[in-house]
Amino acid sequence: MNILVVGSGAREYSIGLALKKDESVNDLYFAPGNGATLNLGKNIETGSWEELADFAKERDIDLTIVGPEAPLVEGIVDIFKDRGLTIFGPSQKAALLEGSKIYMKNFLKRHNIPTAKFLETDSLEEAYKFIESISEPIVVKADGLCAGKGVIIAQSKEEAKKASGEMLSGKAFGEAGKRVVIEEFLDGYELSIFAISDGEKYVILPAAQDHKRLLDNDKGPNTGGMGAYAPTPLIDEELYKKIEDKIIAPTIDGMRNEGTPFEGVLFAGLMIVKNEPYVLEYNVRFGDPECEVLMPLLKTPASELFYKAATKDLDSLKIEFYNKYAVGVVLASENYPYGKSKPAEIIVDEIVHKDLAQHAHISFAGVSLAEGKLYATGGRVLVCVGIGDTLKEARDYAYLLTGQVHFAGKKYRSDIAYQALRD
Ligand code: AMP
Ligand code: GLY
Repeated sequence: MNILVVGSGAREYSIGLALKKDESVNDLYFAPGNGATLNLGKNIETGSWEELADFAKERDIDLTIVGPEAPLVEGIVDIFKDRGLTIFGPSQKAALLEGSKIYMKNFLKRHNIPTAKFLETDSLEEAYKFIESISEPIVVKADGLCAGKGVIIAQSKEEAKKASGEMLSGKAFGEAGKRVVIEEFLDGYELSIFAISDGEKYVILPAAQDHKRLLDNDKGPNTGGMGAYAPTPLIDEELYKKIEDKIIAPTIDGMRNEGTPFEGVLFAGLMIVKNEPYVLEYNVRFGDPECEVLMPLLKTPASELFYKAATKDLDSLKIEFYNKYAVGVVLASENYPYGKSKPAEIIVDEIVHKDLAQHAHISFAGVSLAEGKLYATGGRVLVCVGIGDTLKEARDYAYLLTGQVHFAGKKYRSDIAYQALRD
């Protein structure tokens, strides 16, 4: 099978790593990929999605897997399907679950799926009235995609009003903020649940937990994610079942019944309050770094899983996972998440510890290759992933590897998986 992976992060690298283990995969391409995906396959320039579809036709690509949300929201899946290509991901209409918070919240309401009480509006007056009617803290969200930055948790009504004003005027996020969702704050713990669906059937993956804040003990600003682990013991059978029955099943069924079947990865960002799940957000793709810890746990060949999901054939798939744990620690550049950082050479010590070589690996993101050397180019640079029979063992391997990777300005959290490992 010839496969094209769209994206350039550690998420796409980890999908590539899983595909490399898979004997049925011949040619592997990344569009655009990064300085390290070159070791897994070929990188190609991305022009328009139409041009990429032409490329896929020419090279007999059997399956395209889309990593990030932007191409999905822009309709890459529809463009590829129109040309008879097989592609894993939701249509542009179904991608609205992530592309528009208003669409998502109203969908949840129509299908009685638990979520925070909310108001959607483009009127400052209405926003103020609603803010006065609920208690603090208050959450204000821009409608459209804002690269993870469009959510303000206001501690006071004044702050909530100010945030709504800045969004609605277009000052904060331009067009993406000209409609807003204002909602109640849910106080609990967060979980990410991923379901892969072919529009009809779905499979749920082991539950993962991300660490969004920059610093240890969940301090500092929000980031794209500083580390993740799976499976998390924070979820038991009963809660898992509740999430399936109250959230995943009604979403997949609801999307199908509304004529926008959801094909691809449904990423439910949940808040668990008193053992009850509520949807905070939907994403229509894998989380990053969650994908980096889920892919190594997948026993089923990755190409089979994605191909069957893209061809309405999940019914014939028996998905299997290793009975192990994975922990991923993100190494980021000096100025992440505030701004750019100077390129810095990455040195990885020779790994002499045999166990470490077997139980840990790197998934690369913000890296470039020049004259045989790998450079950190800013943002999240790479993820050190440890695999173990216990969560503690997986974490220890991940941190051992973290100590073997060097670049100027390297920073990381030292407490990934702390919620699951504290006594
Ligand atoms: P979102 O992009 O909607 O998931 O929001 C980003 C982050 O803001 C979430 O991961 C939560 O940490 C937080 N958040 C969003 N909505 C709420 C809410 N209603 N209550 C509490 N925290 C929230
Ligand atoms: N790790 C969270 C995200 O990918 O949105």
